[in-house]
Amino acid sequence: MARIPREIVEAIRDRTEIVEVVSRHVQLQRRGNSWVGLCPFHQEKTPSFHVVPSKAMYHCFGCHASGDVFRFLAEIEGLSFVEAVKELAGPAGVTIEERELSREERDNLRKRATLYDVLEEAATFFEAQLWTGPEGEQARAYLQRRDLSAELAREARVGWAPEGWTRTLDHLQRKGFPTGLVVEAGLAKPRPGGDGSYDAFRARVILPIRDDRGRVIAFGGRLLEGDGPKYINSPETKLYQKSHVLYGLDAARRAVGQADRVILVEGYFDVLSMHQAGFRETVATCGTSLTPEHVAKLRRLTRTVVVLLDADEAGTRAAERTLPLLEQAGIQGLRLQIPDAKDPDDLLREQGAEAMAGLLARAEPLLAWVAARKVAAYGLTAAGKARARDELAEMLHGLTPGQVAELAPVLRIHEGELLAWARAHAHRAPDEAPRPEPRAGWRPHVDAVHLLWLLVHRAEEVGDLVRRVDPGLIATDAVLARLVSRLLQGETLAAVLDDEEDPGVMRALAAIAARSALYAPDEAARAVVEVLARMARPQWDEELALATADAADAARARDFDRARAASTRKHVVSLRRRSLDRALDTADLELAITLLEPDDEPADALP
Ligand code: UTP
Ligand code: MN
Repeated sequence: MARIPREIVEAIRDRTEIVEVVSRHVQLQRRGNSWVGLCPFHQEKTPSFHVVPSKAMYHCFGCHASGDVFRFLAEIEGLSFVEAVKELAGPAGVTIEERELSREERDNLRKRATLYDVLEEAATFFEAQLWTGPEGEQARAYLQRRDLSAELAREARVGWAPEGWTRTLDHLQRKGFPTGLVVEAGLAKPRPGGDGSYDAFRARVILPIRDDRGRVIAFGGRLLEGDGPKYINSPETKLYQKSHVLYGLDAARRAVGQADRVILVEGYFDVLSMHQAGFRETVATCGTSLTPEHVAKLRRLTRTVVVLLDADEAGTRAAERTLPLLEQAGIQGLRLQIPDAKDPDDLLREQGAEAMAGLLARAEPLLAWVAARKVAAYGLTAAGKARARDELAEMLHGLTPGQVAELAPVLRIHEGELLAWARAHAHRAPDEAPRPEPRAGWRPHVDAVHLLWLLVHRAEEVGDLVRRVDPGLIATDAVLARLVSRLLQGETLAAVLDDEEDPGVMRALAAIAARSALYAPDEAARAVVEVLARMARPQWDEELALATADAADAARARDFDRARAASTRKHVVSLRRRSLDRALDTADLELAITLLEPDDEPADALP
């Protein structure tokens, strides 16, 4: 098999969110900068499995399993490294060619490197023009007028593109870069007449745009004064796709991790003044609206985004449009508006960092902010509230219980009523593309894999235990339920494999068959009980939440019989949950399995 070039592997790794991939197999909870859960590679009760998005790595402090996202996938799904890379290529939007690289492709890879080189050389040239060139004076005065310190300007590699038509091009040619490459880097444009090329950036303050690794990939250029567009930007190139790049992210990365939030502003200079004022967790899009790719990038670093877009009409609309993107990614959006239609740069210059800190502390949840705007626009009449509700549900492709809880008080709709409405109107927008499945077929949860492994390799030790538990625990995954039922009926793995057609099932079972030493025979009983308990807990949590909501609703409606019944249910479930935890702590397997049995005589127990 042809080897996958390192650049491609890295591109896929860069565009894959390790937490998302791991979460398909392990329940993770956020802890500081990492995500923590029960290690899927060894049996444990207290989580020692860490996923660190900023390093794109996982590590288990218990069994010392560690590696990157490919390694994780390879281990957990029984794939080779190359197969794991291929599995993640599609979702990452990267194509892997299945053959040796052609000459042209090799040239392309080389050219990528030289594109970086030409951009780097240009950035250095622009910097030199700013600090020591004959025209640098006016640009330095401009930066000073904007209160930008020389220190930050140097760090951000601010520069000056000289006047004239081919000064930059001349310089780059002298350095040995062919004109074609300079054009391809977005630094020069061919003359319309076809006679030579001219500089794309002329007489402008230059703001280099860098990728995650700090390499210059594009430029923004600001006019000092006079006619013409205020900013011009590099065109999209092989290295620069606006929809993927956030200005300032390379400098902000560490601060985002420390502050556990990112501040999203509109302009290049807003980023610079925010960094200068100490809010280094600030980034901006490059003159475009926020995209899902931007959000995916931010999501690796934090789950809180402060939307600090301008308070004018365009900024407000753009802020509203970030809501569905952030909500869909499970990111908490906060809205901050600076009064008097000032941008962050103006505010910092006029009132300083403390005023900004004060405003940041008062940022309000984006969802509530959008809802409040709608309520203000449509009024609190029944029709107005319904319209606001409908638009929000449309925008968010339906309302989750969490969103309902946040929205109900703003819309002044009773929470139970809004929840019922949301359930009845659960929908999926027709234009919403289904999530790309990296591979076809069933994708078992790690607990399902362990359960099946135990049934295949330790049938004698675990069969009777599994037969006793509430079939409802397993029925939430119909495929798993079918496989468990067949194995419990004594079918061999070969027989099961024979007439299962789903490629995911075949893959999972093949991996299970190949894995011989997950649990020793004397660990099997305990392992199966723990796996089943893990499957039960989320279901019980859900029951608990429903009963709690029902009790509150009934009490409000003064239906005390229903309230009493609901709170009894609540009590029973929570007692059961606590007893199970205790039973597992004391290794009382008999009690644990009893707690996992169905409530009533099961009508359709597993055979
Ligand atoms: P703004 O017009 O809000 O300007 O553009 P600003 O950032 O406050 O600029 P200053 O403070 O006057 O220098 C916000 C962003 O929109 C993009 C740029 O990315 C800019 O930072 N933009 C704006 C353009 O790409 N082209 C333009 O002509 C204007
Ligand atoms: Mn501004």
